[in-house]
Amino acid sequence: MKLFIDTANLKEIEEASHWPFVCGVTTNPSLIAKEGLSQKEIIEHIARLIDGPISAEVTAEDYDGMLAQAHELYKIKPSNIVIKLPMTIPGLQTAKRLYEEHIPTNVTLCFSQSQALLAMESHATYISPFLGRLDDNGWDSARLIEDIVTLKKNYGYDTKIIAASIRSVRHVEEAAHLGSDVATVPYKVLKKLISHPLTDSGLATFAVDAAKTAKITK
Ligand code: E4P
Repeated sequence: MKLFIDTANLKEIEEASHWPFVCGVTTNPSLIAKEGLSQKEIIEHIARLIDGPISAEVTAEDYDGMLAQAHELYKIKPSNIVIKLPMTIPGLQTAKRLYEEHIPTNVTLCFSQSQALLAMESHATYISPFLGRLDDNGWDSARLIEDIVTLKKNYGYDTKIIAASIRSVRHVEEAAHLGSDVATVPYKVLKKLISHPLTDSGLATFAVDAAKTAKITK
């Protein structure tokens, strides 16, 4: 399963750009709003840091507006920009149109199997089911991933599944276990993925023992 970082924070992205397991970035209007720069400035900067898919979200609500914004964002770096679109009829119309123009898309805010089906039928490149927000509201996010993976298999859709709204290591492990193509993960959770108390204590013991060996000269 591929891992993207889910942030618009340039410091976090700069650090993650040196990690061999992070290969893309997703942003959204709320993440951008925290940073105090325009969306264009942030996406341009990210495009200099990461050579992988970078999701940049449109904010217009109508088809013409979304299409115009999509073309502006795509121009920033055509080899990497993925246009993030809302799960609405105009959003899916834009997904279909951008597919015809060979511009990749990520349909966001997916909370049900039927929404995923519509995005796949509209030729979205990616579909983003939101795990954390579902669980926060008492639904079963693992079941949704399982259902979308089944849909994909049943009909051979090319759309890739991005497990989004990740809150924990468990979400990432579950998404991988169930066959999600990608998980987009906040910086803090990415850091937790590599840590384990037994790794830490094992390393501490090895360091003490290595120091003992270093004292032996012959
Ligand atoms: C995905 O692309 C979104 O940016 C993100 O995962 C939203 O997560 P949240 O529920 O933590 O806001």
